[in-house]
Amino acid sequence: MLAVAVLVGLVACSDDSATTEAPAQPEPEPVDRDASLREIAADSGLRIGAAVDADALQQDPAYAHAAAIHFNSLTPENDMKWSVVQPRRGEWDFSGADALVDFAEEHEMAVRGHTLVWGQDVGNGMPDWVRQIRDPDELRSVLREYVTTLMSRYAGRVERWDVVNEPLLIGGGELDRNPFFEALGPEYIAEAFELAHEVNPDAELWLNEHSLEHLSDKADALVALVADLIEQGVPVDGVGLQTHQFSSSLPPPGAVEDVLTRLGDLGVEVAITELDLPLDEARDLDSQAAGYRQIVDECLAAGCAEISVWGVDDSRTWLDEFLGGGPHEPLVLDADYQTKPAYDAVRDAILATQASP
Ligand code: G3I
Repeated sequence: MLAVAVLVGLVACSDDSATTEAPAQPEPEPVDRDASLREIAADSGLRIGAAVDADALQQDPAYAHAAAIHFNSLTPENDMKWSVVQPRRGEWDFSGADALVDFAEEHEMAVRGHTLVWGQDVGNGMPDWVRQIRDPDELRSVLREYVTTLMSRYAGRVERWDVVNEPLLIGGGELDRNPFFEALGPEYIAEAFELAHEVNPDAELWLNEHSLEHLSDKADALVALVADLIEQGVPVDGVGLQTHQFSSSLPPPGAVEDVLTRLGDLGVEVAITELDLPLDEARDLDSQAAGYRQIVDECLAAGCAEISVWGVDDSRTWLDEFLGGGPHEPLVLDADYQTKPAYDAVRDAILATQASP
């Protein structure tokens, strides 16, 4: 959009055949390059968020300060996951989630509840005691208890939830045969959204997925899934594109805007929910910044309501363990909480939309 504004500006200045003087263009606001992402985003009504860890928040005041001044939204990286909140049947631990929601309220930040139903056999999304349940009625019963307990605890304080995370095969265009699918069938997705809506009718209910910007079959499958859910009248309010770049190779230009536009055209909000982009082998901060700019430009062009990065600072990224090697330094704040060229690139992308609404 910035390009269009420049083009319009050039035509207006050079067109001396106009019969009346074009009204003087107001001087663009000086870019305050010291303004934080949070300050810049406020002018757009944009959510700019980060994944936050409760332990780090309580142990490191500099981490907490950085989270509060740079972001207006937070996503619990792990503290609201089923394995953490209910590690064993009947045993609940809300300590991390409570700390994050309290912190968010204290600093006027939104909270993205993450995540209610995640059946992928990775990490700690689903407790082992739930993964072993095969009886559909028993699984429905423990799911209802978990969703009701967690959403009700934060009703009025957490109003946006990743209801179903990663329903598709990691690399492909069909539903993952996770334990929810095996016991309840593909309808488990609709059931999860209807349950969440029943528990908190005021909450925004989101679907969250990764790699659509790289895998066109997966993108097609997710668009079809969301269209089908909406056709059924399932209360899906938004779709999050995680946008983890598992390597420094970028999505094809236009791929992010294309898939988010296709989803937005279905009538749901769209967002980038888990952005991170590891440094390339040359460890070139400017090429990392260019990658962030490409992705954020396209998200904003598609009408994104939120841009969240998957971590506050480079010292705590999951990618160092996931990819090995490293440090991969994939985020917008470095390990000393200093802004990086990637941070400036995100800010410039947001400012560009403000310069040419
Ligand atoms: O807290 C325990 C600790 O007590 C224990 O000693 C240690 C070793 O077993 O594990 C710790 O839990 C780990 C947790 O991260 C906190 O560090 C889990 O094993 C580990 O699986 C978990 O990884 C998280 C992963 O999701 C799986 O839940 C990553 O931090 C987190 O960044 C990642 O985030 C996901 C999103 O939720 C969904 N989208 C993809 C994204 C990346 O996988």
